[in-house]
Amino acid sequence: MENEQKKEVVFSAIQPSGSITLGNYLGALRNWVKMQDEYNCIYALADLHTITVRQDPKQMRKNILDAYASLLACGIDVEKSIFFIQSHVHTHAEMSWLLSCYTQFGELSRMTQFKDKSAKHADNINAGLFTYPVLMAGDILLYQADKVPVGADQKQHIEITRNIAERFNGLYGNVFKIPEGFIPKNGARVMSLQDPTKKMSKSDENANGCVHLLDPPEVIMKKFKRAITDSEACVRYAEGKDGVNNLMAIYSAVTGLSYEQIEHDFDGKGYGDFKTAVGEAVVETLRPIQEKYNQYISDKAYLEECYRKADEIALKISSRTLGKAMKKVGFVL
Ligand code: TYM
Repeated sequence: MENEQKKEVVFSAIQPSGSITLGNYLGALRNWVKMQDEYNCIYALADLHTITVRQDPKQMRKNILDAYASLLACGIDVEKSIFFIQSHVHTHAEMSWLLSCYTQFGELSRMTQFKDKSAKHADNINAGLFTYPVLMAGDILLYQADKVPVGADQKQHIEITRNIAERFNGLYGNVFKIPEGFIPKNGARVMSLQDPTKKMSKSDENANGCVHLLDPPEVIMKKFKRAITDSEACVRYAEGKDGVNNLMAIYSAVTGLSYEQIEHDFDGKGYGDFKTAVGEAVVETLRPIQEKYNQYISDKAYLEECYRKADEIALKISSRTLGKAMKKVGFVL
């Protein structure tokens, strides 16, 4: 028990806004699973974040349960970690309001994800899209997290979280732990298979650009076979070879092979062989996850039991931090 208390706290979350991608898995979820033994891990489905973009209510409910089952299938172990649903824990929305009064318009304006998303959803640039990083900062700070395992695209959001926390602590004393991002060496930025200058994303316009965790093997193979490469026909990691670099990064992430080893193994072979090898390695990585997903999704009562239990613990932990912060500000509790 004493040992338990000394473990550092890990917090991370994922938006359940569609089926989970290979990018999510390699950039973040794999680390979530690995960190469970060494750290006190707290994970969430960030469903409040998803409504910054319009959602279909029926589909949204399905996505949330699908994502919960998918993460259990990836190896999130509810005996070891707390895995809850953000909207079930009201402290998140409250903390977001509190912190928004300690966040500057200017710093939110500089967020690249806001700029990207507002360009993509030009007809719905809502205030939530703008203040989204504050909600995320609250998620992390509520649990006094030491480490936040994320892909490279979230780096700027971790940075603003640290800035908000430091500003608040500067005014009121040591209220929040200053968290650090934890970004993997391999797979931190998986790119679209159709446009390797853009990150692989659930909302990719070209369906062939994004591999989903639950794609059937033949679909995965087809997507890799159609992946954009170049005309050099040489498997090597080099500037200007974005497509091949991306395939090498994926292959390295799932097999553990170094780039040198991959270059050596595919010396003299064409891209066709290489794409097949990458596709097969991904299929094998995802196969056990897909099998487990099918078991979990068919037992909704079990899923509910898991998240209700976790929601309650998350509420208890986060209420302590929220209370502390509100007291410092001057609220009568
Ligand atoms: P989200 O839902 O977009 O992605 C979940 C995680 O997957 C990583 N990721 C990727 N990694 C590598 N390559 C890619 N192509 C790729 N696409 C996504 C993301 O970096 C992320 O780690 N705002 C967050 C969710 C969130 C959160 C938090 C995260 C809400 N509150 C608190 C950490 C802590 C998001 O939209 O992630």
